[in-house]
Amino acid sequence: MEKLVSLAKRRGFVFQSSEIYGGLGSVWDYGPLGVELKKNLIERWWRSMVHEREDIEGIDSAILMHARVWEASEHVSSFTDPLVDCKQCKNRFRADDESIKGTPGEEDAQCPVCGSKGTLTAPRMFNLMFKTFMGPVEEDASQIYLRPETAQGTYVNFLNVMQSSRQKIPFGIAQVGKAFRNEITPGNFIFLTREFEQMEMQYFVKPGDDEEWFEYWHAERMKWHKELGIDGNKLRYHPHGEGELAHYAKRAEDIQYEFPFGWQELEGVHNRTDFDLSRHQEFSGKKLQYVDTVSKDRFTPYVVETALGVGRLFLVVMADAYREEAVEGESRVVLGLHPSIAPIKAGIFPLVKKDGMPELARSIRDDLRKRFPVFYDEGGSIGRRYRRQDEAGTPFGVTVDGQTTQDQTVTVRDRDTLHQDRVSLDKLAEYLTERL
Ligand code: GAP
Repeated sequence: MEKLVSLAKRRGFVFQSSEIYGGLGSVWDYGPLGVELKKNLIERWWRSMVHEREDIEGIDSAILMHARVWEASEHVSSFTDPLVDCKQCKNRFRADDESIKGTPGEEDAQCPVCGSKGTLTAPRMFNLMFKTFMGPVEEDASQIYLRPETAQGTYVNFLNVMQSSRQKIPFGIAQVGKAFRNEITPGNFIFLTREFEQMEMQYFVKPGDDEEWFEYWHAERMKWHKELGIDGNKLRYHPHGEGELAHYAKRAEDIQYEFPFGWQELEGVHNRTDFDLSRHQEFSGKKLQYVDTVSKDRFTPYVVETALGVGRLFLVVMADAYREEAVEGESRVVLGLHPSIAPIKAGIFPLVKKDGMPELARSIRDDLRKRFPVFYDEGGSIGRRYRRQDEAGTPFGVTVDGQTTQDQTVTVRDRDTLHQDRVSLDKLAEYLTERL
């Protein structure tokens, strides 16, 4: 994990937020390579969820919503974690933190940081939503929240989307956007953060069809992760037991990944029943129902949700792709990212800085970058330049050498196999595009 964090910073994938001020706890910024990788992951998800399907529409709802939304969704009353404080060292923990020995609030409880006994307070419930104020007056009436999930913005727009797109049930609404949670014990780099991005899809079905659609989506989502190139041996399902189920869920199953710190949730698939639509119906007074045009049945749809964190997926693809290996007696670090999500698609290198090679290599760069991101590098030995791109996850290296000026061909090196093909310049763009 340390090596991954160090690579992420060194190569411009992820930086700590406000680093020059000492950083802001568990908030992260994405650098030049990180923002490309993140954008590619989102694009791939959006393409498979929205563009390639007839039955799913996209939406982008606002982060700020009417305060009543969060009362209706029960986030105000139930989106809480039990929190304990150490009166001695002032550290805070979740009451269910496994490193706490004894019962918080009792004499036997021991602080996992300073080791004091009897200094942990009894648990009190702590709401994870960030509060802010709308307008100039900071009073209760103007208090609103930063959304802790994108899903509610989708539910309150259920009718708008259905009517404007003329979708019929079953159909889904997909959304990508920021969410905020004031996590008590965030950590493990970008795994659990206070500001994050979600890719969520709410699929509206007829009550009674929900179990079948749950099975469908939980299989689809696993397939999607495997197609992204994530090692299938490091993915598994984790069904939620009674105690684990969120307040809105009838059934939930996580797709877990074996992170360097153990098996943890990557994505959640939830059967949210008609909980959210019914609650918004009750609180807003607006009917959120569907009328079947054939049977004339009127019902409040059930929802099967797929909920994935962008940063969580980012960490999984980085961890899964990271490898160290020896090649021809030299060690190299490789990020074996799937070519479709790699931030840079090809490195362009003149073998030496003379004989017209840099000029030719730059003109190849100018041509290719109209199609996808490429990187020109003439600094250092060719081996070093290859290795710099290997650890950035760049799948191809295009080298202009002495032969190029004579026969208009370049070598294309594959990051993973190290195999080199000689490719004619007029076929180069096509050759690379096919492999991306
Ligand atoms: N709308 C349902 C929902 O939000 P969730 O299981 O709380 O369900 C869904 O979150 C996904 O969002 C998680 O599987 C994870 O990938 C991501 N996620 C949740 N909280 C996060 C946090 N604090 N930091 C990073 N990612 C988070």
